[in-house]
Amino acid sequence: MVKVITYGTFDLLHYGHVRLLERAKALGDYLIVGVTAEDFDKSRGKINVQQSLMERVDAVRATGLADEIVIEEYEGQKIDDIRRYGVDIFAIGSDWKGKFDYLNEYCHVIYLDRTEGISSTELRSQDQSFRLGLVGNSSFLNKVERECQLVNGLHLAGVCTNMPEILSESVRSLPLMTEHYDELLEVSDAVYLRTHPGLHAEQVEKALLAGKHVLCESPASLTVDECRKLYSLAKEKGLVFMEALKTAYATAYARLLLLAKNGKIGKVTSVDATCTSILKMNMEDPDELSGKWDSMSEWGPTALLPVFQILGPDYCDMRITSRFADQERKFDTFTRISFEYPDAVASIKVGNQVKSEGELIISGTKGYIFVPAPWWKTDYFEIRYENPAENKRYFYQLDGEGIRYELVAFARAMSTKQILYGIEPNVSCAISGVMEDFRAHKNLRVLL
Ligand code: CTP
Repeated sequence: MVKVITYGTFDLLHYGHVRLLERAKALGDYLIVGVTAEDFDKSRGKINVQQSLMERVDAVRATGLADEIVIEEYEGQKIDDIRRYGVDIFAIGSDWKGKFDYLNEYCHVIYLDRTEGISSTELRSQDQSFRLGLVGNSSFLNKVERECQLVNGLHLAGVCTNMPEILSESVRSLPLMTEHYDELLEVSDAVYLRTHPGLHAEQVEKALLAGKHVLCESPASLTVDECRKLYSLAKEKGLVFMEALKTAYATAYARLLLLAKNGKIGKVTSVDATCTSILKMNMEDPDELSGKWDSMSEWGPTALLPVFQILGPDYCDMRITSRFADQERKFDTFTRISFEYPDAVASIKVGNQVKSEGELIISGTKGYIFVPAPWWKTDYFEIRYENPAENKRYFYQLDGEGIRYELVAFARAMSTKQILYGIEPNVSCAISGVMEDFRAHKNLRVLL
């Protein structure tokens, strides 16, 4: 039996793909099709793939041409597959001519003529493109601008800021630079907000009322009611409103959530997340305090994310312990929150004047997931068991700190009107709820 293998992304499966598969199949008796996983594609810079891996696999299966479908997940897998499946022929389109000659050592390599006049790229470019406006007084916008260039379907329309001096040359040379939010809204289809959390609710509402999609840094608002209101307004208007928190879009994080929820460590009993940094600031200066983000604004949403995504938003008790920089207890420099659930517990520790090990530990009845510091920029984690021989390590590429994936998810949500992953509205509202209780000093003990 002659075995043939071919690989591709097969996004928006088209006539060119089908012809390629037909000819590959005709070269032998058994055709294996390798479909490239999204993460592998992202690491090669092909981050604008429109369909999910499952959708692409289903489309290839529906052609009825593949005898077997495999997922291509890592660099160098082709050689492993060829050996593992005893492949005789490696077939690929002529656009790859010469690139796979090295596989001749393992099997016969054949380049098949590419079908003229059609490609996934072309089909994708027929899609809508969205004009994105950036808002905020943060050098983080420079990173967002850089990452935007790698995302299909997004074009930067301008920036609204009071601090142009901290922005890069390329952000400053966007078509519009203004101090007036309304002006930016006028030239944008969507906005990305990296502003002080206290401004979010008003800015999000204004954008939605103007018919613009919104990607807003977490917390989306500082009260639960406001947060719910914003989600229902977006729904009513048929607009995308997504909370931005780059960790939520990192592949390793998404995988560990899946593993934790699917019983890999047994019943989850505790989630413990720590996020700290030492902020350089003069604690005696009230002006500095009002300009900077306190610990809970800076880190609270990130630390709360795995708690609510794994254990859900329905905790039965919450206790807060904080240290404050000011008499009014508005600016916390350290906070620990403990949550009680009927069947589990959780804790977060955040600080911007305290340093600790920034790790995430999810404990279960069979084992635990350990994510080393800084877990919020996670590309690696381990599952550890009583018997260390059973431990497993997981590594996933993380490009652009996750900002890129967040923007891809936003662009995709706008063009398909479907939010496929990220932060669920109930998690987003739960985060706002904790911010609200924290500001109301609910169940608070103050450290001297
Ligand atoms: N292919 C082909 N003819 C086309 C398009 C693709 O023969 N018109 C072949 C490619 O050479 C490859 C396989 O189909 O062997 C899968 O290609 P893939 O990269 O998934 O599709 P493209 O349409 O080339 O995608 P893109 O535009 O994103 O590069």
